[in-house]
Amino acid sequence: MEANILTVCYLLASVSFILGLKMLSNPATARKGNLIAAAGMAIAIAGTIFLYTDEQGQPLHNYPWIFAALAIGAVAGTLAAKKVQMTAMPEMVSLFNGMGGACAALISIIEFGHLKGELTTGDITGTLIVICTGLIIGSVSFAGSVIAWGKLNGKIKDISFKGQHLFNIVLLLALVVLAVYLTMNFESINPLLFYIIFVGALVYGIFFVLPIGGADMPVVISLLNSFTGVAAACGGFLYHNKAMLTGGILVGAAGTLLTILMCKAMNRSLTNVLIGSFGASAKPGAASATSQGSYKEISVSDTAMLMAYAKKVMVVPGYGLAVAQAQHACHELEKILEEKGVEVKYAIHPVAGRMPGHMNVLLAEADVSYDKLLEMEQANEEFASTDVVLVLGANDVVNPAAKSDPASPIYGMPILDVELAKHCIVNKRSMKPGYAGIENDLFFRPKTSMLFGDAKKVLQELITEVKAI
Ligand code: TAP
Repeated sequence: MEANILTVCYLLASVSFILGLKMLSNPATARKGNLIAAAGMAIAIAGTIFLYTDEQGQPLHNYPWIFAALAIGAVAGTLAAKKVQMTAMPEMVSLFNGMGGACAALISIIEFGHLKGELTTGDITGTLIVICTGLIIGSVSFAGSVIAWGKLNGKIKDISFKGQHLFNIVLLLALVVLAVYLTMNFESINPLLFYIIFVGALVYGIFFVLPIGGADMPVVISLLNSFTGVAAACGGFLYHNKAMLTGGILVGAAGTLLTILMCKAMNRSLTNVLIGSFGASAKPGAASATSQGSYKEISVSDTAMLMAYAKKVMVVPGYGLAVAQAQHACHELEKILEEKGVEVKYAIHPVAGRMPGHMNVLLAEADVSYDKLLEMEQANEEFASTDVVLVLGANDVVNPAAKSDPASPIYGMPILDVELAKHCIVNKRSMKPGYAGIENDLFFRPKTSMLFGDAKKVLQELITEVKAI
């Protein structure tokens, strides 16, 4: 009876994961989707704790340990999620992902100990393959995620040495060979070999991420996320736990798709991301490559005038908008302009900001209506009929070098064609480059005017000025 109820719990959990994931693909339903998937996970955890029985019909024991770990994890997770700044979200995702990888590796370690400690009968090759796979992938994901976290918050620098990629390939091959050897000679093997594979996988995870440029961390995190999913699915195999298996496979598939989509949005191959060292030496504030002549400045009052008398305004949000936390001021300006009969829309580049969907989440927080957000292709069709484009803290995603300069590190990346509009006003604090570390020719083009200042402050001044017109 209890086993049947548990099966229903796992079924409910699996359905909620699929439903939640589907709802996450639209900003209007994403919040609800997240809650549904979390509720499903809670059902799966509660079901496992209270209804699980082993082959001898024994329920779980060690309740104090289980509840203490749950309490610590729940408190730490809630506090971290509540405190985290929007701009530090990729760091937190990376750490959470690393924890998932660590759990999968720990499961493999515990189950290997069980196998070694018991007199096992029957063919355990399948179990050993799953244990070794979970150990290697989980450890790589854990160590790699910690490095990615350190890189994102600037604590860890990009490090590479000559022949590092070869070293990585040889290390990975060695790990696979050792795991096969261990599986084939399990009875006679010294358990130390298992721990050598564990340490080797941690080292591989570190060296895998260390040389990759900081700008590519979101792609790496997404890839490591898919690794964690596969490692968790291994745990599902080991415990014949369908919820864990479904959850793991979904995370693995979603992470892989997201990685592919991000690479596509930057027009780069995954290999180029992993060994291209894009942005490795290019950090925000890095010296610009070339100076391209003079640029025009515009005042807040002139900008207000242009916008208030425009028919259509397109806002292009970027990382700077998130840094300035200017999303509410931006929405306020949008409402005031619309009261004056101006049509206002937002052009969202798929990699604007520092993580997938960064701008959508930011603008949703300020209650910007979803139907005002245009995807890149759609926005590019509308720029020609736009009177004023207001670029707010965006840089690389509007850099024409992506189209015209084959030597540029962002060459080939699709960009927002803001130049097609009648006027292009760029708000940022200085002439410093964006994340890719390259100068932007857009700032020097005839239709472009620079509006310097912190995005929030500038928007607040614009609101006052537009109101007065
Ligand atoms: P960036 O190119 O990084 O430019 C942001 C600009 O915002 C900077 O040039 C900065 O100039 C300005 N800024 C910073 N603080 C500001 C403030 N308080 N007020 C006003 N402006 C401010 O950003 P983007 O255009 O959004 O491009 C994103 C970059 O991240 C791309 O290179 C992309 O490839 C990379 N990336 C993103 C992702 C995802 S999934 N989003 C994944 C991988 C890589 P000042 O310092 O002069 O103010």
